[in-house]
Amino acid sequence: MAERSSATSRVLAVIEEGVAASVPANIVLMRGLIEATTPAHIDTALAQARRRSQDAGPGQRLRAVEALWRSHPQAWHLIHDVLATADHGTGQTGIVDQSTSRWAATFDRLAETAPDAGMALYALGDPDLLAAATAEIVDWLDRYGLLRPDHDAVEIGCGNGRFLKALAPKLRFVTGLDVSAKLVMDARARCSSLENVRVNRTAGEDLGALATASVDLVLAVDVFPYLHLASQGVVDAHLRDAARLLRPGGSLVILNYAYGVDPTSQQVDLDRRATAHGLLVKRFAMGDFTLWDGTSHHLRKPTLADTFIAN
Ligand SMILES: C[S@@+](CC[C@H](N)C(=O)[O-])C[C@H]1O[C@@H](n2cnc3c(N)ncnc32)[C@H](O)[C@@H]1O
Repeated sequence: MAERSSATSRVLAVIEEGVAASVPANIVLMRGLIEATTPAHIDTALAQARRRSQDAGPGQRLRAVEALWRSHPQAWHLIHDVLATADHGTGQTGIVDQSTSRWAATFDRLAETAPDAGMALYALGDPDLLAAATAEIVDWLDRYGLLRPDHDAVEIGCGNGRFLKALAPKLRFVTGLDVSAKLVMDARARCSSLENVRVNRTAGEDLGALATASVDLVLAVDVFPYLHLASQGVVDAHLRDAARLLRPGGSLVILNYAYGVDPTSQQVDLDRRATAHGLLVKRFAMGDFTLWDGTSHHLRKPTLADTFIAN
């Protein structure tokens, strides 16, 4: 009984905090579902939150969370299945193997059991929500002028190819890399009609096989956290190689850099490593997206003019 009420209090706390901070409804629900040890905890916490909510603004946002929960009743099971498969070793289960090969096997399994939720938990297994989140990120890249028909790109950790397909019409050529053999197959199938997309399997240790100064954009959506889990050497090798692959003026965009580390410390760490590999940090932000709470980090390979101005 005590366990049940403390779980409900935790769920209530994340829901009330999220609603008060105008966090997107799908993210509030996802955070609540993660805390809830049974689906009933969500029902109880939402009912309590409704009783306590006086204010019109948060009240409306709370109703949006409730509506989403009503329309996605399978989301609790889905999220807990994904978390049970993809043990990040940050919870009570203690230390687990975090090597790149273990993550390859984990994502192979998720590709079978939870193809959408395994890519993005915040879409609650809903393909329409996932498509909207993908489109929002692609629009964001476009707004920053990072997608051009004469530009080539590499996506690290391309998963099932949702971004490759959306990016292909806006770029000259895009290469996707992933450690999961199953996801590489899925991404190839998804992009089979696109001549300017290639998908390669990688061992996940670095970007070694790709040519120097061959791309204008290196994109990594929610994959750097897995590089961090693997090892600091793997993070560093990817930053070093991204700097090598980029043409002068090219961009490295990392959406989500590390899990469980506060955003300011993430940025300090990235600044230090990026500087060591000759990349300029252009922008760091939170809250760029309405359907995802990922952090955004934009780095750039300096041009000759940048180097001239700096000296
Ligand atoms: C959370 S999923 C995100 C997938 C995709 N970026 C998206 O947003 O749909 C993380 C992805 O990173 C891949 N991954 C994990 N470690 C990797 C590594 N060391 N190198 C390349 N891909 C990796 C996984 O196989 C998985 O496809």
